[in-house]
Amino acid sequence: MIDFHNHLLAGVDDGASTLEQSRDAVRDMHQHGVRTVVVTPHLLGSLTERPEALAETLDFIDQAFDGFSRMVAEELPDVRIHRGVELMLDSPAVDLTDPRLRLAGTNFVLVEFPGMTVPPHSVQALYQLRVRGWWPIVAHPERYHNLDDLDLLEEWRSVGALLQCNAGSFVGRFGSKAEASAWELLARGWVDYLSSDYHARGRLPIEPCRAAFADAGGRDQFEQLTAANPGRMLEGEEPLPVPPLARRRSLWQRLRRGRA
Ligand SMILES: [Fe+2]
Repeated sequence: MIDFHNHLLAGVDDGASTLEQSRDAVRDMHQHGVRTVVVTPHLLGSLTERPEALAETLDFIDQAFDGFSRMVAEELPDVRIHRGVELMLDSPAVDLTDPRLRLAGTNFVLVEFPGMTVPPHSVQALYQLRVRGWWPIVAHPERYHNLDDLDLLEEWRSVGALLQCNAGSFVGRFGSKAEASAWELLARGWVDYLSSDYHARGRLPIEPCRAAFADAGGRDQFEQLTAANPGRMLEGEEPLPVPPLARRRSLWQRLRRGRA
């Protein structure tokens, strides 16, 4: 498995605070089958308009990445690591020239909109990235508070944006609305990737998510979303379409939800 959305670098954002937490988190991932990790600390896109501030922030992340690299090389030598960021699109003029802003130096970039709110210009913002040669991968689209009509995501996709859902969303870690949206996107065949967005705290969501996919008859989709398509991304290739998968709930789950 490949995880390309997580907050495992120590002391750079709201994820791991210490190298010990980073180590525990990456060990946990390793136990769950992850062999490639792209770390993605939060970064404001508007920083790219202030070269000195950007350089300072990236230097700070470089140092955290060096410590993380050494720790992983010593403790888990079969885990490959790369760097990226989760870039907040808080500016229309984001400059992605520095390869450290992209996922493992590819043309793919992990992006999110501010405040977990889809702005009015979302399609245009994604289009602008695409026409400049970048592939925007929108992080956790299922989590946006104001996204009541998922049809908007078809417009994102039509301008070349790709979608990454969080593993925890499929098992209710982000509430029932995000859970329903994640499954609906999967049923429409619109999800391109699945990652943990793990903040090095609490239970890693990979195993429950894998089980939920298996219950729905979606082992192949899980593999494609967590291994094949992220592997293509690291090679600079577009993802392959993921066959739509409808959710199946057990009788017990339906009874609990009062829908049986
Ligand atoms: Fe994140």
